[in-house]
Amino acid sequence: MIRGKVFYRGEFIEAGIEVDGGRIKKIGKLVKGKEVRGVILPAGIDVHVHLRDFDEAHKETIETGTMAAKYGGICLVVDQPNTRPVVDSEKVYFERMEKAKSDVHVDYTLNLALTNSNFGEIAGILEKIRSRYFVPAVGEVFIQHSNDNLQIRYETLRLAISNLKNVLLTIHAEDPAYVDTGFPNFRFRKKEAEVFAVQKCLTISNFHFCHISTRDAAERICNSDSTFEVTPHHLLLSTDDYRRLGYAVNVNPPLRSRDEAEWLLKHFHMADILASDHAPHTLEDKKSGAPGFPGVETMYPIFVHLAAMRIIRFGDLVEKIASNPARIFGFRGYGEIRVGNYANFAVFDLKNVRKIRAEDLHSRCDWTPYEGFNAVFPDKVYLKGTDVLEVAEPTGEVLGAEFQNYKKSF
Ligand code: NCD
Repeated sequence: MIRGKVFYRGEFIEAGIEVDGGRIKKIGKLVKGKEVRGVILPAGIDVHVHLRDFDEAHKETIETGTMAAKYGGICLVVDQPNTRPVVDSEKVYFERMEKAKSDVHVDYTLNLALTNSNFGEIAGILEKIRSRYFVPAVGEVFIQHSNDNLQIRYETLRLAISNLKNVLLTIHAEDPAYVDTGFPNFRFRKKEAEVFAVQKCLTISNFHFCHISTRDAAERICNSDSTFEVTPHHLLLSTDDYRRLGYAVNVNPPLRSRDEAEWLLKHFHMADILASDHAPHTLEDKKSGAPGFPGVETMYPIFVHLAAMRIIRFGDLVEKIASNPARIFGFRGYGEIRVGNYANFAVFDLKNVRKIRAEDLHSRCDWTPYEGFNAVFPDKVYLKGTDVLEVAEPTGEVLGAEFQNYKKSF
């Protein structure tokens, strides 16, 4: 089908890829195909997006969010349940999945919320949902959140996980004892909030930690069996960007100092996953201090550019944006260009460096904290063998119960 410089088994090889029935049938130096310029990388998996919709459709919808994902070279997203309504029951889960079925431009899954109200029934809810769909994780579990119902106590977490078998728990680790309200939020949400929450959670169980923003927390997790993700904004932006971003600067966890961000970027290899924490809010909402940055469309393009500049290694990028998310969350058939897997890959012409402009992006929220950053956007994005940049309609799928077999034991 196509030929070029393919990232295969940890290195680039000149090869062709043959596809049959949406899956990779053959990869080889003599396999014929249409020659493409640039590199062929596995399409990304973004395990942390907030696609809003329903009562917050003015910020983003499942349709616009997955459209943004496909233009950013992402083939699968994991949506977070802190929506309105919150995805804390099988009823809300099924409603959202029904909507997603007709709306998604890339493949889609949804986490289940764990709250102080549903923790007693969480195992039963999970079982009901699993009869129809693949639930990648319970989470993002908030140790600190502005909505009281979403903020969970450590004791509740401990009780809930004693009933939860065979499911990954993803944690937003910020301890309320170190969090105050105020603007800009980086002056009020202390580093200690993250470090203390991580430390405390590690005494309870193993988890996947979302958006780690401090060296101290990253090192503690690396000394345990847990895993963690980093975001583009905690590696590339810092409190210095307050001057540029102004009222839009708030994000949870907040931006940290330049030193902290530089350390995280330099130690990118230590993270398990790169995820965007795509959290779209309109500029109007940002003016009132709403925390969160859009990022699903810009993550892979910015990082491909960083890899082309040799600031990070392609091997690390592919591992953290594709193969590790597939392994840690159990997405069989995703994450690597190899025979038998879905034909999900993205073609990036490394010479085609563009400045990011919000007006060129597809999120409904209409702004980006990366305005003017250099990036290499994909020229082609194959989802199960079809270049979805050539297709206007939503052709993604929601992940069904058949993925359930897997589990890393937590
Ligand atoms: C998240 C959002 O907007 O859903 N925002 C963010 O800054 N990461 C929620 C949250 O984590 O507070």
